[in-house]
Amino acid sequence: MSQASAERVLISADQIRKRIDEMAASIVADYPEGPLYLVSVLKGAFIFVADLARALKRSGVRIEFMGISSYGKAKTSSGQVKVTRDLDVNIEGQNVLIVEDIVDSGITLSYLTRLLQQRHPKTLEIATLLDKPERRIKPVKIKYAGFQIPDEFVVGYGLDYAEDYRNLSDIRVLTGAD
Ligand code: PRP
Repeated sequence: MSQASAERVLISADQIRKRIDEMAASIVADYPEGPLYLVSVLKGAFIFVADLARALKRSGVRIEFMGISSYGKAKTSSGQVKVTRDLDVNIEGQNVLIVEDIVDSGITLSYLTRLLQQRHPKTLEIATLLDKPERRIKPVKIKYAGFQIPDEFVVGYGLDYAEDYRNLSDIRVLTGAD
């Protein structure tokens, strides 16, 4: 049996910090006032939303969580999406920004945008830290993307492999996993 490890840093903590500041500045420019609902997708996006929210230098930022699962323990998407935790606020008429750690096949986000659109928000956009365009199966319109990355399995900064590595402060490439 092979041993998984995450030695190679793809994006450093410092690069992440700088990029989040840039993304936050664009978001504040686009949404200068009024409530802004960050809808964060658990679990992977929990660190990104915490840092992005603190970088948003404006009032009225609301932080909400949803649970969506499509991977289980496998490295690739099963294509099965399920809501494991729904919002407990009404987003009708609100500016909503979905905050994700990674868009890979696009299956999760295309499902989620369809679901939230049915609740009639005023605006609905997507911010993701990582974008893996090579892997896209379902088209997804991303408004704010931190980094485009190659088709490698990455962990850290919220992203896991079988629930490990989420606590790394940088993004690393996983090798040797089954
Ligand atoms: C990951 C990630 C995204 C999704 C992206 O979540 O956080 O939500 O996969 O992949 P896709 O574009 O192929 O749908 P995962 O299901 O691994 O759960 P987690 O966030 O709890 O780790």
